[in-house]
Amino acid sequence: MSPALPQPLAAGTRPSVLAPMQDVTTTGFFRVIARRGPPDWFVTEYLRVHESSTPERHIVESIEAHGTGRPVFAQLIGEDIPHLVRTLRWLTAKLPVAGIDLNLGCPAPKVYRKNVGGGLLRDPAKVDEILRAMRAETPGLLTVKMRLGFDSHAALAPVTESVARHGVDLLTVHGRTVKGLYWAEVDYAAIAEAVRRVPCPVIANGDVWSAEKASRIVAETGAWGSMMGRHAIRNPWIFRQWREHQLGQPAHRPALADVRAYLDDLAAECCDADAPDDRRASRLKKFLNFVGLGVDPDGRFLHEMRRTEGMAELMACCDRHLLGERADEPFAPEPHPGLVARPTRETREGCGL
Ligand SMILES: Cc1cc2nc3c(=O)[nH]c(=O)nc-3n(C[C@H](O)[C@H](O)[C@H](O)COP(=O)(O)O)c2cc1C
Repeated sequence: MSPALPQPLAAGTRPSVLAPMQDVTTTGFFRVIARRGPPDWFVTEYLRVHESSTPERHIVESIEAHGTGRPVFAQLIGEDIPHLVRTLRWLTAKLPVAGIDLNLGCPAPKVYRKNVGGGLLRDPAKVDEILRAMRAETPGLLTVKMRLGFDSHAALAPVTESVARHGVDLLTVHGRTVKGLYWAEVDYAAIAEAVRRVPCPVIANGDVWSAEKASRIVAETGAWGSMMGRHAIRNPWIFRQWREHQLGQPAHRPALADVRAYLDDLAAECCDADAPDDRRASRLKKFLNFVGLGVDPDGRFLHEMRRTEGMAELMACCDRHLLGERADEPFAPEPHPGLVARPTRETREGCGL
């Protein structure tokens, strides 16, 4: 018998979850987000599991040392059953994990070609074997995060059947196929289909960009709660705002000066202080690529910040756009239409900023 699922911080609300994002959802990012109103729980970026793997140190740290007071699930990616079992036994025995999550969605070709992550959706029989073994060996909660299928929805029926058969405790569905990467239109009707197919609660994921949209999507799909990824990078107040929206309270409306303070926090917590100046600036720009979608409708901030060199120029550009006479302007709770976070090599190829 599994322990109970974590309950939302505020009674009567649906759970919000920060999406796992490789190279983004670090210990520091958990803290930065939690200071602005935490999600109900976190999921680590994936731990790679294979013959010679040991849990990556920075991910172990994100489980042990985040200090946010919220539960953290450890996500695994792999297909080798004895090593998945070895890893989950170690994690559940040694670390304060809320549960174990299996990644069935990573779309990076270098990942799915090894038949792991999204690649496993081409082989539902293998998924069934993996879930049987993981269920038998996981003493606590076992959860799955899946996409709708590889290049069609063909995997949805058999994989949700395995989720039901093996008593998975919670299913997160990102409403795109693996081939849909991060930009295909999200199919919320297919998430609703997954909800109907499994007995466990479902978390809906994909392009949930505001509190209002989160409420709409849970109503439309029948999901228990909602997971936000890139939209939480852009708007770290999104979890607080959704909680307030559900409770009928006025939603927190940060000003551009609050966004400027968020950037200082990101620089301090998420950009290695020992890295060369240009590396720190390019790391911060990866976050700004998302934040900038809410700064101005004509994209001037994005245009100018991408052309700065080094931290001093970058921060001066942020000051110009977010402080001074604009400091009190409200930060848009939704991305401005027409602006896009420019795909980087990593998002073109799969996981990673
Ligand atoms: C930079 C980046 C890294 C990601 N890394 C992971 C990961 O490690 N594990 C995972 O299950 N999903 C990963 N994802 C997918 C997200 O968890 C999420 O499913 C996806 O971004 C859709 O949600 P969103 O529209 O709210 O961003 C990643 C996404 C991004 C943008």
